[in-house]
Amino acid sequence: MSSQLVNLNVGHGNRKIIEAIKDQAEKLAYMGPGYAVDVRSELAHKVIEKAPANMAKVYFTLSGSESNENAIKIAKMVTGRYKIFSRYRSYHGASFGAANLSGEPRRYTCEPGIPGFVKFFDPYIYREGIEFKSEEDASKYYIAKLREQLIYEGTEFVAAIFLETITGSNGVIIPPKGYLKGIRDLCDEFGIIMVCDEVMTGWGRTGEWFACNHWKVEPDIITFAKGSTCGYVPLGGVIVNKKIAEYFDDNVLSCGLTYNAHPISCAAGCATLEVYDDENLIQNSRDMGKILGEELEKIKAKHPSVGDVRYIGLFSVVELVKDKSTREAFVPYGKDPDKIMGKLNGLLKEKGFSTYTHENCIIIAPPLIIKEDELKEALGMLDEVLNFADEYILK
Ligand SMILES: Cc1ncc(COP(=O)(O)O)c(C=O)c1O
Repeated sequence: MSSQLVNLNVGHGNRKIIEAIKDQAEKLAYMGPGYAVDVRSELAHKVIEKAPANMAKVYFTLSGSESNENAIKIAKMVTGRYKIFSRYRSYHGASFGAANLSGEPRRYTCEPGIPGFVKFFDPYIYREGIEFKSEEDASKYYIAKLREQLIYEGTEFVAAIFLETITGSNGVIIPPKGYLKGIRDLCDEFGIIMVCDEVMTGWGRTGEWFACNHWKVEPDIITFAKGSTCGYVPLGGVIVNKKIAEYFDDNVLSCGLTYNAHPISCAAGCATLEVYDDENLIQNSRDMGKILGEELEKIKAKHPSVGDVRYIGLFSVVELVKDKSTREAFVPYGKDPDKIMGKLNGLLKEKGFSTYTHENCIIIAPPLIIKEDELKEALGMLDEVLNFADEYILK
């Protein structure tokens, strides 16, 4: 129910992808990234076709972290600036630059961090403690705060604002209406590059090819990985808009590793994108996502321990609380003295519902091939296990 690490969107054993990997291994297992290879070009075309209309070229990597590393470098090269903004509640990867970009505690092992990496707060309305009149009002608040912070940091030094389009492992925090547009406007005002990390949200997870489509916002750069090959072999990428692509027609793109744009990964990527189309998986994500949302609302209404449920496509979370009215967290931030979250996860696993938890949150992100009966069966397991969460807070 988490598609492994929110990547196994098409499930195990997909013949089309397996055959594409085997065929490519027979045909040409490796060719350095500086050479043209048919599957490289083919995949680049397919990716640009699926990406927002302003996107022009893609640079292939092997992971989400590596995609973000390269996006940082590209933003610095294009702007000649060095500051990078990203959010506290975020995860962008475990390599040094990507971990510095991340705001959550997995960053600490890489600190003291990279100079010029600045953090700002996510629009986490449920935990904000401010009663906003509307989503638009909340967005205005967060954007105004960010604008002030950018000015204090010196906008002329800021190369990029990175954000997970929808904060993923830190609690599926869906941006309020107007928020992404507000970020886009700030980037335009100050000549800053807007980077959407769609490593988790890209490739149909939220019911759109990319989550930014929900708000009709076109970032300058999109980074991706996970769902592009669904774990069959490693692949990631950095998609850039026309202006950035053209910059590198005349300037050196100082990036590159031995295995970038690996032919076997590219062949798997081509096959995977075809599977999304052949099996109508983006639509399934929307259709099953609707049922998921309805079922989660019922679960929220029934269980005193469920404070909030957030969902979009097949990307969702159950946030547990001690008290619905005060929204007091189920376990104190960063602490879980009774290891209750681990126990709940264990109980779910015993029933056959495999996922992971983060702080007070249970992530629910099933494969995009899931069917209605499977989804309802799994949510029945969740419903049962949440009785233990209720008992824990009521005891
Ligand atoms: C939003 C986001 N960005 C980046 C990464 C890092 O990707 P990888 O583990 O492939 O390096 C992840 C991984 O979970 C992620 O969720």
